[in-house]
Amino acid sequence: MAILVLGGAGYIGSHTVKRLIEQNEDVVVIDNLVTGHRQAVSKQARFYQGDVRDRDFLDKVFAEESIDTVIHFAAFSIVPESMKDPLKYFDNNTGGVITLLEAMHANHVSRIVFSSTAATYGNPENDTIKETDLQNPINPYGESKLMMEKIMHWSDIAYGIKFVALRYFNVAGAAADGTIGEDHHPETHLIPIVLQVASGKRDELQIFGDDYKTADGTNIRDYVHVTDLADAHILAMKYLQAGNESNAFNLGSSTGFSVKQILEAARVATGKEIPARITARRPGDPDTLVAKSDKARKILNWQPQYDDIHEIIRTAWNWTQKHPNGFEDQK
Ligand code: UFG
Repeated sequence: MAILVLGGAGYIGSHTVKRLIEQNEDVVVIDNLVTGHRQAVSKQARFYQGDVRDRDFLDKVFAEESIDTVIHFAAFSIVPESMKDPLKYFDNNTGGVITLLEAMHANHVSRIVFSSTAATYGNPENDTIKETDLQNPINPYGESKLMMEKIMHWSDIAYGIKFVALRYFNVAGAAADGTIGEDHHPETHLIPIVLQVASGKRDELQIFGDDYKTADGTNIRDYVHVTDLADAHILAMKYLQAGNESNAFNLGSSTGFSVKQILEAARVATGKEIPARITARRPGDPDTLVAKSDKARKILNWQPQYDDIHEIIRTAWNWTQKHPNGFEDQK
């Protein structure tokens, strides 16, 4: 039977497809290619272009393929965009999962691993966030994902669809072989932007605020390598396939870095000066987000391979240098 990866042409989705193929899984990918790249999808996966909100399309794929487990990445994920256009997020993310679960229920598919987020916690109660901490999002993106978690919970109770919610912190880096990496248009994430400055594609980094409640005043985030994240999805899939109950796990490195610390690490990793300037705060940014991810290590036996921020940045820099125009170069 096959694994269906929705959003498999996106950043995290494409790295997960690559890892699944490397582990000899049979992989089917759905992506509407609104933000994803066809070239990012392994040629060994069967590809269907379509939208998670299109029930007829989903039914067609479920009829053609024999699907064992769904891994769902097909959602929007840009915090500032969600502040400007919340309905776009509730439509695609929250609405999308309703259609997907309806299609899964109708087609007797009863396992799903999905991308949730640290943004569901809002401004956290504790320095390092545990899965049982209060989820109180401060942006529509986080709210849309929290709603997805709740919808999954009730779908489990009513229809027996088992789920694992993986609450990611800040994903970064690229495949070690440099074949795939991060390529967003427009790019909003810190590490790729810093590397665009390092490679001369941007003049400077704007640091969004230095008056947060942190040691150097800039936001602290927990950066986790995309391949480690991909592997966590495969472990979560196996956890469900073993007949375990629905669950939620944080995925982070348990170490926080401020925006200024990331900038310094990128200067070291690239050997470039990387000009930067403090500008106004960006709406929707919590002060600090750092995971406690012992639960994933213990229950899923997740063993992240990348624990050094310089190494994470180096893999992203390798991708940036090999593909200065991202996937455009591979058309
Ligand atoms: N930042 C800058 N300048 C930039 C870009 C970002 O200072 O040009 C700062 C942001 O203000 C923030 C930090 O760098 O403090 C990280 O910002 P990102 O945009 O890279 O990532 P976010 O923390 O906003 O969000 C990411 C994912 C979300 C996820 C969240 C969870 O995009 O999907 O991590 O920790 F929910």
